[in-house]
Amino acid sequence: MPAVTRVCCIGAGYVGGPTCAVIALKCPHIKVTIVDLNQSRIDAWNSPNYNLPIYEPGLEDVVRQARDRNLFFTTDIDRSIQEADLIFVSVNTPTKKSGVGAGFAADLNYVESATRRIAKVATSNKIVVEKSTVPCRTAESMRTILEANSRPNCRFDILSNPEFLAEGTAINDLFKPDRVLIGSLQTPEGITASNALVEIYANWIPKERILTVGLWSSELSKLAANAMLAQRISSVNALSAICEATGANIDEVAHAVGYDSRIGPRFLRASVGFGGSCFQKDILNLVYLSESLHLPEVAEYWKQVVVMNEYQKRRFSKTVVDTLFNTITGKRIAVLGFAFKADTGDTRESAAITLVRDFLLEKAHVSIYDPQVEHTQIWTDLSDALPLVPLHNLQKQVDIASSAFDCCKNAEAVVIATEWREFREIDWEAVYRGMNKPAFVFDGRLLVDAQKLRSIGFKVTVIGRGERF
Ligand code: NAI
Repeated sequence: MPAVTRVCCIGAGYVGGPTCAVIALKCPHIKVTIVDLNQSRIDAWNSPNYNLPIYEPGLEDVVRQARDRNLFFTTDIDRSIQEADLIFVSVNTPTKKSGVGAGFAADLNYVESATRRIAKVATSNKIVVEKSTVPCRTAESMRTILEANSRPNCRFDILSNPEFLAEGTAINDLFKPDRVLIGSLQTPEGITASNALVEIYANWIPKERILTVGLWSSELSKLAANAMLAQRISSVNALSAICEATGANIDEVAHAVGYDSRIGPRFLRASVGFGGSCFQKDILNLVYLSESLHLPEVAEYWKQVVVMNEYQKRRFSKTVVDTLFNTITGKRIAVLGFAFKADTGDTRESAAITLVRDFLLEKAHVSIYDPQVEHTQIWTDLSDALPLVPLHNLQKQVDIASSAFDCCKNAEAVVIATEWREFREIDWEAVYRGMNKPAFVFDGRLLVDAQKLRSIGFKVTVIGRGERF
């Protein structure tokens, strides 16, 4: 098989955009075209002042170097499919909202329509790479669709190449991944296609970090990795509840536990709960898969990771209400951070949405500040979380501030929901002067120096710490 010289990526989102921009940067000999149905997203990728549709540290620099050299963004999907030797399918796979498997199974509608498009317009052989996170054996369905709809003499090889980048560190993760995983059928044709993709990554990644496995193992490994990462967070969060009840300190416990080389120190930070578009969706997907395979005990085991995450968010908002003398009606609560984690503008499944919703249901007035999230996104998320409340009523109960300091002015309590670095540098003395007294801080991200804040006069509650105020 000749080396790949033209790559198309269907889906210009959080994964397709950064992943294929990095491929273009590292492989100047390959023409990379990223396509999407969404015209405004493509326009943003092409914007002359690099006002890109997603915020990701280091991304702008990559796009500046490669765009219009060998990296292109377009809505001309058919032409890009026809030109390409290799096509990444990197479209969204959200949890199904209705029908069979609603609330658990992945909605594969976008994957299927991208696959059908490829089958319809391709006029030459293609390697089709499943980049989206999908349930086990989706590649099989893609192959069936492609083969049933293709033109004669048009051959498709399907690979699975799940993406392990984390938002907020995507560029670094893509430059130096722990591993790249490529799954293929273990036939001579499948292995040849796999080798073609290995050669692309080998332009900057040491070959020993490029793992080649069977198709189904590759698909399942992505779900397994996300389930195990989320499980660590839920485990440490479950322990944080015990710490609060006993007076232990979750930081100390996590530090001591993480020193065990079998466990390791990373991903053991207690918080108000995990968010993001992937963890919950992928675990629910694994739960659905287990149930479909008649493995109810396995399904129940993984489901508990999500149950614990919901409990952690609920527990935190209840602590706020209980501490503020059992009512927050009419009180002003400042929420610092709305993104699901630092260094991203992504709010999908953000814990902050649940917290703000709970505060609004308690009839509090909420002010919100986030350094990256667009205001329109905040209104959309709150409207989705409270579908029965008209937007103009929400706007009476919520305001969006343009700085952390403004957000906290006249508040009774500050709630830290996202671990943005700038929140470590807040002038807490000035914030204290501007707040109603007693002034409370609820730290859901183990971010503040509680003793220092207490010496200023704040009443401080930190997640996973027994000591209060
Ligand atoms: P996204 O929603 O940001 O982007 C998907 C894009 O695909 C959208 O812009 C949408 O308009 C486009 N699209 C959908 N159907 C299309 C079609 N038929 N033709 C052309 N464009 C189409 O989603 P994101 O976050 O990039 O996720 C993509 C996949 O990658 C998902 O399966 C996700 O689970 C997985 N993933 C996501 C990670 C993340 O951190 N966001 C990390 C690893 C995997």
